[in-house]
Amino acid sequence: METIFSGIQPSGTPTIGNYLGALKQFVQLQNDYNCYFCIVDEHAITVPQDRLKLRENIRSLAALYVACGLDPEQATLFIQSEVPAHAQLGWMLQSISYMGELERMTQFKDKSAGKEAISSALFTYPSLMAADILLYNADIVPVGEDQKQHLELTRDLAQRFNNRFNDIFTIPDIRMPEVGARIMSLQEPTKKMSKSDENEKGFISMLDTPKQIEKKIKSAVTDSEGVVKFDKVNKPGVSNLLTIHASCSGESIEELEKRFAGQGYGDFKQSTANAVLSVLQPIQEKHAELMQSEELDDILDSGAEKANQAANKTLAKAMKAMGLGRVK
Ligand code: TYM
Repeated sequence: METIFSGIQPSGTPTIGNYLGALKQFVQLQNDYNCYFCIVDEHAITVPQDRLKLRENIRSLAALYVACGLDPEQATLFIQSEVPAHAQLGWMLQSISYMGELERMTQFKDKSAGKEAISSALFTYPSLMAADILLYNADIVPVGEDQKQHLELTRDLAQRFNNRFNDIFTIPDIRMPEVGARIMSLQEPTKKMSKSDENEKGFISMLDTPKQIEKKIKSAVTDSEGVVKFDKVNKPGVSNLLTIHASCSGESIEELEKRFAGQGYGDFKQSTANAVLSVLQPIQEKHAELMQSEELDDILDSGAEKANQAANKTLAKAMKAMGLGRVK
């Protein structure tokens, strides 16, 4: 059975973008692959985090994974910092990563732009991400479009390590959803929707109340044409809502264009909000139940145990290949 690895940062509550680009795929894939899904808290600290908020976000993200339909009996769900091999292999991969290739990463450029105190970990972030994936010999990494460049670097690093030392790592393939790989901000539809956006009206958090969700969709930026048509270049706002609607309701974009032909944006926005609510409400109910239960700790304990076992095997091979430590 092929292996899948993916991760989400607990740097805020996931958005509908994280759901449609990543979580939704995870749930669909869990039956057919040996899956590892990670709460990448060591990635989250590459930018400043409030420690209590971070702890809360980690737990809430674990609950969301399960609430979305991940079955912990099938998929291994764990917290990155509870598997020390990630940081160890991350360091080893930094030693074969070049400054030039890290400097080219658009996520680093975006996150560091205009900031003064930029952590060195934000810069070397992609080497840690490569370690996450390579430790489990993942064949496939399901992610949204924004992670494509990091995945390409992961493949390069794996290849470089294999050529230079020993053929240890599997070269992973990326997998993106056909619709929903890049959900845009509701306020600036040419910019990616992000959970760390300062403007809360730009994103729908998976734990927003129905009222908040309706309000945010109703005030989403569109255009003055009044035609529900998919045209990313000239109508980015409407196209984004069409994408959100289609991936939540399962209808095709063409079907939606037909259904709303000749109507203004009011009904279309209401219908989009309903589609989002029909996906998020059951998840929110399950999330609330899980947050009150002890089940979550058991899931994370057994996930960490399984992940440590798999990761330590690969780490030992990689250390040997590089000549670290002693011969045992
Ligand atoms: P993160 O936490 O930013 O996002 C988690 C997942 O959600 C996807 N995503 C989106 N998809 C569609 N539209 C959007 N607007 C949108 N925003 C985010 C992301 O592509 C991602 O799949 N570096 C990663 C976390 C990570 C990781 C890994 C992922 C660390 N190690 C190993 C895969 C494998 C990140 O920052 O994701």
